[in-house]
Amino acid sequence: MEQAELTKEFTTIFDQKPTVCCFSPGRINLIGEHTDYNGGHVFPCALSLGTYGAIRRRDDQKLRFYSANFSQLGMIEVDLKELTYDQADNWANYPKGMIQQFIVAGYSLPSGADLYFNGNLPNGAGLSSSASIELLTGVMINDLFEFKVSRLDLIKFGQKTENEYIGVNSGIMDQFAVGMGKANQAILLDTNTLDYAYANLKLKDNVIVIMNTNKKRELADSKYNERRQECETALKELQTRLAIKSLGELSISVFDENCYLIQNPTCRKRARHAVFENQRTLKAKSALDHGDLAEFGKLMNASHVSLADDYQVTGKELDMLVQTAWQQSGVLGARMTGAGFGGCAIALVATKQVPAFKKQVAQVYQQKIGYAPSFYVAKIAAGTKRLA
Ligand code: GLA
Repeated sequence: MEQAELTKEFTTIFDQKPTVCCFSPGRINLIGEHTDYNGGHVFPCALSLGTYGAIRRRDDQKLRFYSANFSQLGMIEVDLKELTYDQADNWANYPKGMIQQFIVAGYSLPSGADLYFNGNLPNGAGLSSSASIELLTGVMINDLFEFKVSRLDLIKFGQKTENEYIGVNSGIMDQFAVGMGKANQAILLDTNTLDYAYANLKLKDNVIVIMNTNKKRELADSKYNERRQECETALKELQTRLAIKSLGELSISVFDENCYLIQNPTCRKRARHAVFENQRTLKAKSALDHGDLAEFGKLMNASHVSLADDYQVTGKELDMLVQTAWQQSGVLGARMTGAGFGGCAIALVATKQVPAFKKQVAQVYQQKIGYAPSFYVAKIAAGTKRLA
């Protein structure tokens, strides 16, 4: 979308021109799933798909939110002093929660504002439409009121919004990828230290195809919190003998020698995934650095198997997409991406095979699952930014 179009849309809704226009991406995670709240590594990148936003100050203390994606809900209006979570405010709880973080951190807004959103990410598809809105709101508010909050703090505001305001105990990956993305680069992030390094995504004659199950992610949040709890239980039991702060500190051999300490077999499997996935992520980064895409693809496959068998967050729709992808020619690897329980998978596919790939996978999925998947060829883009 062009800035002119965004300005026009804002003006139609709010009768005045916006002051600040921004774009905020979604994300995919290449590998390193369910490792971020376990102190492990993740390897995400930001997408060219995302959310556009525009903002303008008001003369009073009102905040008004409008999303072209939820036009049926019309304008959502709240007072600056009434920012507590309200189910009736629907999607606007994300920007509300984000604004709340500024206030909690001591940045008081001198006035209200009108905020406009228009996104082209599929909602609830596991491509981080919520982190996209959070960082978008953060950057718009920061720029409009010239608060000068650092990018890393905006990322932390986003995670706090999820954890304390929305009630999902997610890690920092999504907000970090959305806030720090760079064109054609993936980010290796150590969630223990927040050290990070960019990696050139040299895919040669291949592209990343995003495959959307189009399954509604029911119960995703409660299952997510349950997985996190299971990992915490496993960690506590390991800590009776090991001086560790997170599962991310464990090598495979130390885990194997000590996993008997974890009483419950389910918790043991969850921890096994977290430890092995963390090591796979490091191997994948090094494979990519060496241009070994075949190895990278194999690690993607192994990641999916572990998420299906040990972590149990895939489900029949994601498994169907990924297993079908594995059988197609020109596919180097495929795995689910994001939290799971529906949402999206990704596949590394030879560019010239993409049309046949989509056709075959769609046909099998439709036949076995009963409805069609969607495909998008991923363009890896920059993090949340102000439009010039
Ligand atoms: C969701 C969360 C992230 C991360 C992934 C799984 O996207 O928001 O913090 O835990 O799931 O890797």
